[in-house]
Amino acid sequence: MNLKLKIWRQKDANDKGSMVDYDIQNVSEHMSFLEMLDVLNEELIEKGDDPVAFDHDCREGICGMCSLYINGEAHGPDRMVTTCQLHMRKFKDGDTIYIEPFRANAFPVVKDLVVDRSSFDRIQHAGGYISVNTSGNTQDANAIPIPKDDADLAFDAATCIGCGACVASCKNSSAMLFVSAKVSQFALLPQGQVEAKDRVTNMVNKMDEEGFGNCTNTGACEVQCPKGISLDNISRMNREFLSANLKKS
Ligand code: SF4
Ligand code: FES
Repeated sequence: MNLKLKIWRQKDANDKGSMVDYDIQNVSEHMSFLEMLDVLNEELIEKGDDPVAFDHDCREGICGMCSLYINGEAHGPDRMVTTCQLHMRKFKDGDTIYIEPFRANAFPVVKDLVVDRSSFDRIQHAGGYISVNTSGNTQDANAIPIPKDDADLAFDAATCIGCGACVASCKNSSAMLFVSAKVSQFALLPQGQVEAKDRVTNMVNKMDEEGFGNCTNTGACEVQCPKGISLDNISRMNREFLSANLKKS
């Protein structure tokens, strides 16, 4: 396939940035989207040009690093896949492909397609953990009975990879789907109960402090999420938040 690429280039956080056109030839349908960008970068390097900066790590849908907005959709036109799992067979010869970074005030652009998502880390630090007594008398987690339905829902929530596609596809740049997944994975388990009230309060407050918008129930986040995180988690987080704060006051 021969393709036209329109890629967001931005030297650094202070640069205004703009879309730049590139032609790329002989792209195999079996390549992943990131491999296609690797080929483009090899050509740019050979010509002495600056390669396009983009984030990636595992390249198998686990780490949440790859974060491209492709033809107006977070992670591109496929469903339930990350950018690194997107293949060029989803495109056809002669296509023009628009490639932009995830855009949100809380995700400032570092360079080209790389954004700073450390705001997610700070939300996690505010409560995305449990404290466990490691004195030697720790109860084996497998000895605590948990209803199968709750275990399944907690596992589903825990599959969130923190990629940020939910934020990028939300008109309000809301992080509610991400935060609700991180709250739900503990709220559904006995191990998460000890710090439950502080967890949901601190994580929601941090989310607001970082500048993410609110949820207006549009549902774009759920559609674009590569892990199929359900909006039900947002309902659960809202209930947890209300209950924690009613009981506190
Ligand atoms: S909820 Fe989905 S889209 Fe949002 S960070 Fe988690 S995996 Fe990514
Ligand atoms: S590079 Fe790890 S999820 Fe895409």
